[in-house]
Amino acid sequence: MDKAEALKKLEAEMRQDQSLPLSTNLVFGEGSLNPAALFIGEAPGQKEDELVRPFVGRGGQLLRECIRGIGWKEEDVYITNIVKRRPPENRDPLPDEIAAYRPYLARQIEALAPAIIVTLGRFSMNYFLPDAKITRDQGKIFISGRRCVVPMLHPAAALRSPEMMRQFRETFARLPVIVERCEEVLKDLSDPKQKPKPQKLF
Ligand code: URA
Repeated sequence: MDKAEALKKLEAEMRQDQSLPLSTNLVFGEGSLNPAALFIGEAPGQKEDELVRPFVGRGGQLLRECIRGIGWKEEDVYITNIVKRRPPENRDPLPDEIAAYRPYLARQIEALAPAIIVTLGRFSMNYFLPDAKITRDQGKIFISGRRCVVPMLHPAAALRSPEMMRQFRETFARLPVIVERCEEVLKDLSDPKQKPKPQKLF
């Protein structure tokens, strides 16, 4: 089965899964099937639910502007969320909700097989790196399994504070260099018997 088929099948399964919490539109994700990076946020907001697309509200516009700002195209990356339906009143996703959607995100990541995952905000960061702290670790590179995980601030947090915005933009500007570094590191991990532990690189 190719990637497009695997993702289509996964989305169809999610639609049928009555056990999944939240009842708004399913916002599965969009972008390249060979993404330069996989961006993962928390959960869709009102605009995302309306348009059935991830990151299309104010935070999403900032994210997409920053992607273009480093010379990438939105179509070169893949954008999704850990929880794929909108929590009421845009509240934070609950642990049970994250747990329920978890196996589907794991399969989505398997299908896309990205070398680099950029997490947006603490919920998606903690999905991969339970002990990481967003203010301390944003912009660093971690190894998780055979992928690099780069935690970044959530764009909505950047919109709330000039200092967060500065950090968000600064990390984004470094993303092309971070990606190059990740590619070098992943090449060194090509021994299939090696089981790398999450570690900070820089
Ligand atoms: N915030 C998120 O975490 N994801 C979206 O898709 C939109 C806003």
